[in-house]
Amino acid sequence: MSSLEAVSLRKVYGGRTVLADVSLSLGEGEFVSLLGPSGCGKTTLLRLVAGFERPDGGRVLLDGRDITGVPAAKRNMGMVFQAYSLFPNMTAEENVGFGLRVRGEANDARRKRAREMLELVGLGEHTHKYPHQLSGGQQQRVALGRALAIRPALLLLDEPLSALDARVRVQLRDEIRRIQREIGVAALFVTHDQEEALSISDRVAVMEQGRIAQLGEPAAIYEEPESLFVARFVGQMAEFDAEIDAGGVRIAGHTLPAARAAGHAPGERVHFFLRPEHVRLVAPADGLPGLVESRTFNGPTTTFRIMLAGAGTVLATLPTSEARHAPGETVGISWDPSAPRILKLGKTPPPQEA
Ligand SMILES: Nc1ncnc2c1ncn2[C@@H]1O[C@H](COP(=O)(O)OP(=O)(O)O)[C@@H](O)[C@H]1O
Ligand SMILES: [Mg+2]
Repeated sequence: MSSLEAVSLRKVYGGRTVLADVSLSLGEGEFVSLLGPSGCGKTTLLRLVAGFERPDGGRVLLDGRDITGVPAAKRNMGMVFQAYSLFPNMTAEENVGFGLRVRGEANDARRKRAREMLELVGLGEHTHKYPHQLSGGQQQRVALGRALAIRPALLLLDEPLSALDARVRVQLRDEIRRIQREIGVAALFVTHDQEEALSISDRVAVMEQGRIAQLGEPAAIYEEPESLFVARFVGQMAEFDAEIDAGGVRIAGHTLPAARAAGHAPGERVHFFLRPEHVRLVAPADGLPGLVESRTFNGPTTTFRIMLAGAGTVLATLPTSEARHAPGETVGISWDPSAPRILKLGKTPPPQEA
């Protein structure tokens, strides 16, 4: 049974459709991310699920029950927001116990539960601290403890890591996932950060202008995007306009192998893209010839920027141990024939700004 089911949700603000026919369901204990650029409707969708807003169409079901008309306070959902959402005049323990106090739970039981939650989020030693005495990451741990204290049917998180430093962000993201698994509560997690979404989720819903552009497991979203929008949003890539021919794909006068060309007719115009880690550097005569413009050391990997003759620029990421080329060198680029993803040319959106 699915814990949450959103059915054809629609939301209009001042005549503008902000969410158009969004359907999404979460399995029991499942972690699903809503990923998309700012303004695409992620928070609006979360607010409809939480009950802070009423939809202009569609329904919300929780454990099979229609809760579309149920007020937020009666939905039993735990929420974590971006930041600064703790009550400043309450200790960590009082913050975590707040939802239980509202529900009229007795003092002792409430305190016990709050302490358990603070232990769970790694703050057992900080129960009597006030928010201003805690770091940003610790404050978000308190917020998570507060959301979970009420034993929610669903956990909703709206960019909870966005205000934190990179290192704390990664640490806390793994913690959130560990705790969510341990408790077994289903979670809907909003982020605009593709790496965050891909690393933490069972499934990712990529949103584009009020719609779900694609919903799938992280690897499928990354390797098998169904549109250029999704492909571009979830990772770097080189894009080519190409023509299918008998041997694979033809780009700038060269034919290169592409396993996925098989389903297409010779002569068909297609668009395809290559992720940097799929590019191979070969001798100039064995691939598309190009000039190494720069090399960037990333630690375990090294990224080359290569200017191709008549076919744009390609990034190639190699294990540093195999990265031998230097700027100014002429190379050829090739790829694992199974790697490049072919998309039919159709409505091709303009390239996104880097
Ligand atoms: N209460 C509101 N009134 C009018 N417009 C709103 C309101 N809330 C959100 N919007 C608009 O809806 C769109 C989606 O917003 P939002 O859901 O916050 O996007 P995201 O969280 O993906 O950044 C935006 O264009 C935003 O300006
Ligand atoms: Mg938002």
